[in-house]
Amino acid sequence: MNENVRIELPEAGKESHLRSGGPAISVRDLDKSYDDNHVLDHLSFDLERGKVYVIMGPSGCGKSTLLRQLIGAELPDGGEVLIDGVNIHANSRKRRDEARRKFGVLFQSSALLNGLTIGENVSLPVQRHTDLPQSTIDLMVKLKLELVGMGGAIDKYPYEVSGGMKKRAGLARAIALDPAIVFYDEPSAGLDPVMIGVIDKLIKDLTSKLGITSVVITHEMPSMFRIADEVLMLFKGRIVFRGSPEALRNSNDPLVRQFLKGDPEGPINAPRQLSELSERLIGSRAMGGDA
Ligand SMILES: Nc1ncnc2c1ncn2[C@@H]1O[C@H](COP(=O)(O)OP(=O)(O)O)[C@@H](O)[C@H]1O
Ligand SMILES: [Mg+2]
Repeated sequence: MNENVRIELPEAGKESHLRSGGPAISVRDLDKSYDDNHVLDHLSFDLERGKVYVIMGPSGCGKSTLLRQLIGAELPDGGEVLIDGVNIHANSRKRRDEARRKFGVLFQSSALLNGLTIGENVSLPVQRHTDLPQSTIDLMVKLKLELVGMGGAIDKYPYEVSGGMKKRAGLARAIALDPAIVFYDEPSAGLDPVMIGVIDKLIKDLTSKLGITSVVITHEMPSMFRIADEVLMLFKGRIVFRGSPEALRNSNDPLVRQFLKGDPEGPINAPRQLSELSERLIGSRAMGGDA
């Protein structure tokens, strides 16, 4: 549907696509505690370009904390995060900005401003980070909204559209500056199964068609099996599994088995959280939840 749209990619877009040749994301010895709660325990991993990575693990295992360190929203106690080779926690503000321009984030809440139209919301990062003329910005916004199937909603306000449409608008904003990487925090939260399918397909398409690296935090097992090239399972601050969805399915690791089955008995020792989790994952509450 966009065959007839011809648009010169602005410098900003080109810049954010600069490729160092190394991994899209490189995490080295990342460590984070809140008081005596050791949430991230010296994590190290690399994520390659152009793949969908799903990060999962029981509630409270540190997924959102990891995301905050990856996007530079919080300072770790130790270690480093390289985004396309650039340290997101660099001392120099210029370097940090350079790293930040390489990714977009779709927050759980979609985080749209209610006083602005959908189109204005999507244009915000472009206004802020480029000196492009308004006519070019309008074209970029339109293109991005069309990519997520929201071309018709450009003049609507966030409170006038459904949760799924808000998510898609948030996604259009996350990719407004043609990022090399997109982070998603629980993109399916609060959506019905059909809309979850729509978002999953968008994540897949953006990754394969635009060559974006997608890092998705999710609890949705069906989603994970649909979208993941690789799964990283986080538990007690460490990565306890990394591999394909198929390998996850076939794993004999008691931790993985328990997580997949939502079994209240096993190495994950949090009956109540687990039973809530299993309800979300398999649609029935595991026995043995204590509340
Ligand atoms: N800002 C914070 N201050 C203190 N403790 C926090 C903060 N954020 C998270 N935590 C704690 O860190 C742990 C991991 O939380 P979080 O990263 O939100 O887990 P998840 O996203 O996997 O559910 C939890 O024990 C949580 O209570
Ligand atoms: Mg979380």
